[in-house]
Amino acid sequence: MNVLLLGSGGREHALAWKIKQSPLLTHLFIGPGNAGTSALGTNIDLNPENFEEVATCVANNDIEMIVVGPEASLVKGIYDFFKNHNKLGNVKVIGPSLRGARLEGSKDFAKEFMKRHNIPTAFHTTITSKNLNEGLALLETMPPPFVLKADGLAAGKGVIITDNLKTAQEKLIEMICHKAFGAASEKVMIEKFLNGIELSVFVLTDGKNYLILPEAKDYKKIGEGDRGPNTGGMGAVSPVAFANQTFMQKIEQQVIKPTIKGLAKENIDYIGFIFFGLINENDNPKVIEYNCRMGDPEAEVVIPRIKNDLLELFLASANQTLSNHKIEVDPHAAATIFLASKGYPEQYEKGKTIVLPDIGIGSIIFHAGSRLSGDTLLTNGGRVMAVTSMADSLNEALDKSYAIAEKIEFEGKYFRRDIGKDVLPIKIE
Ligand code: AMP
Ligand code: GLY
Repeated sequence: MNVLLLGSGGREHALAWKIKQSPLLTHLFIGPGNAGTSALGTNIDLNPENFEEVATCVANNDIEMIVVGPEASLVKGIYDFFKNHNKLGNVKVIGPSLRGARLEGSKDFAKEFMKRHNIPTAFHTTITSKNLNEGLALLETMPPPFVLKADGLAAGKGVIITDNLKTAQEKLIEMICHKAFGAASEKVMIEKFLNGIELSVFVLTDGKNYLILPEAKDYKKIGEGDRGPNTGGMGAVSPVAFANQTFMQKIEQQVIKPTIKGLAKENIDYIGFIFFGLINENDNPKVIEYNCRMGDPEAEVVIPRIKNDLLELFLASANQTLSNHKIEVDPHAAATIFLASKGYPEQYEKGKTIVLPDIGIGSIIFHAGSRLSGDTLLTNGGRVMAVTSMADSLNEALDKSYAIAEKIEFEGKYFRRDIGKDVLPIKIE
């Protein structure tokens, strides 16, 4: 089977690495891919959000399956585009329908969905230009910190958390009246702040059945101790010690099952990943967001821990036979450390020469913002590459990844040195 994987980040390199291992694969195409994926298949220069370009690639290369990495194409309806295509209607798209992708594409939709299906989440009120005054008054009655969320996709920047009431009120006005996030912030949620540690949980589903994948924790802030602005993710670990069996069972019963049942009940076609962004509030899981795709950098630790043939599981999802499969999880711990360009997530320079060291068994470098110029590897983005290692313990996995992170050379290299330290089974101060 020929497969087209859409996207260009570390997540896609991890997916490509795994898909490449499947005996069911004939040839892998990646659109547009990156320097890392070019070693695993053929990179095709296309825009994943331009479905006509994707369709041309599919037709020209006898593609039978499209695996969609990033959310934008899903929220724009790539699943429905191919399902309704007069010539390419049989191509299997791994990713939800337009309606399913609204779980990520509209926070208002996600909140209403959770309400309908009794899924635990933070109290919220939706504010538009029509009830702005109600929103400003509501903030005055709430204890800080204040949480404001743009309804639509805002490249991970649509959430504002502040302790200052005046700032919260100003931001609310900016978001709604001055469209600080474009159409995405025409609607804004004011949400209760949830106090607790975050966890990322993933399932692969065919819309009726699901497999729970290894859980992970990611580190979103640029600075150590979770300080500074948000990034695309500076590292991740899996497993997560506090996500013990009891907690995972609560998640399955209170969050996963009602979500899958809710999708089926509402006749929403959903094939692919659901990413539950959760907060552990006093040992109770609360959903802070749904994503309709794998996480990044979570994929860089979750995918290597899946022992199954991923392509076989994708096929089973598309054919709605996922109930015939069981997930096999590698018990080793995985840790990934993202190397970023100096200045990221604000201004940074590209085009710095990267020198990679020899890496030992049990480690992989997943590329993100890098590109090849002839034989020279150059930085080409804010988050450049993720170093994943697997070992008997999380501590050892972290040590292995950090040793490699130290040895990778490029001008302005930056990485957080505290990834995973807060969730080690035994705290080492
Ligand atoms: P989201 O885009 O919904 O994932 O939000 C981005 C980040 O904001 C999350 O990863 C959390 O760290 C934080 N966050 C979002 N909602 C809440 C909430 N209700 N309480 C506390 N933190 C939150
Ligand atoms: N790591 C969070 C995300 O992929 O949205």
